[in-house]
Amino acid sequence: MELSAADRPSVGGQMSAAGEVSAAGGVSAAGQPLGRSVADETDLVRRGYDELSYLYRADDARPDKYVPWIAELIARLPAGGSVLDLGCGCGVPVSRDLAAAGFAVTGADISEVQISRARRLVPAASFMVADAARLAFADSSFDAVACLYALFHLPLDAQPRLLARIGRWLRPGGWLLTVTGQEAWTGAETGWLGGQTPMWWSQADAPTYRGWIEQAGLAVTEQSFVPEDDGGHALFWAQRPVEPER
Ligand SMILES: C[S@@+](CC[C@H](N)C(=O)[O-])C[C@H]1O[C@@H](n2cnc3c(N)ncnc32)[C@H](O)[C@@H]1O
Repeated sequence: MELSAADRPSVGGQMSAAGEVSAAGGVSAAGQPLGRSVADETDLVRRGYDELSYLYRADDARPDKYVPWIAELIARLPAGGSVLDLGCGCGVPVSRDLAAAGFAVTGADISEVQISRARRLVPAASFMVADAARLAFADSSFDAVACLYALFHLPLDAQPRLLARIGRWLRPGGWLLTVTGQEAWTGAETGWLGGQTPMWWSQADAPTYRGWIEQAGLAVTEQSFVPEDDGGHALFWAQRPVEPER
């Protein structure tokens, strides 16, 4: 099952039909203000995906919009190359399709439910429960990093720091594929996807994401707008430059 509104609520902090949106900080299911510490917000996201995992994506989902992205990623990768699927969710469809194409896939996600499903659904890949803000890999570990609809669940100040680390994790010539926010917005929503659990987002606008990606040492080769419902997201392809031969 693919839900058209699955990726985030309306851009701009509008009230959604499903529940409440606050422009800053979070709200509890009962509409009470939540604490606004980073730990609370990260925990809200983790618990949210633990509970909303199946509402977000079915085991056998084949979401149309991912098809060209995955095909293009496969075309850019060396045979058998290594890919990090960051904020991989249940592994469907990105980790699943890349593993099926013979790539060495590592998936990381903060939600234990998402990772437990990913291990069941994509046994050929390797998965870990981890907060992306705290993840560490050796430099030049991956031929590509896919980070789709996940960056904006991290606290805003952690996002450029993570992009900088992703830039180092990529091999020279390696690719970042990421879907980020299009417009700046921070808030929480209850009733997202028809569930009972609050969810929290914090996103910059697309020019800011582009700047952060470039500051990470990556060359943006493509930026596009992904329309969804009454809003949409920004999609970036960016490459770590190949170092000149000496
Ligand atoms: C909207 S889903 C997208 C899943 C997948 N990338 C896709 O496009 O189908 C966002 C995912 O990011 C994960 N996530 C959110 N914050 C995270 C964090 N700090 N570290 C790792 N994963 C995180 C969530 O648990 C969730 O599975």
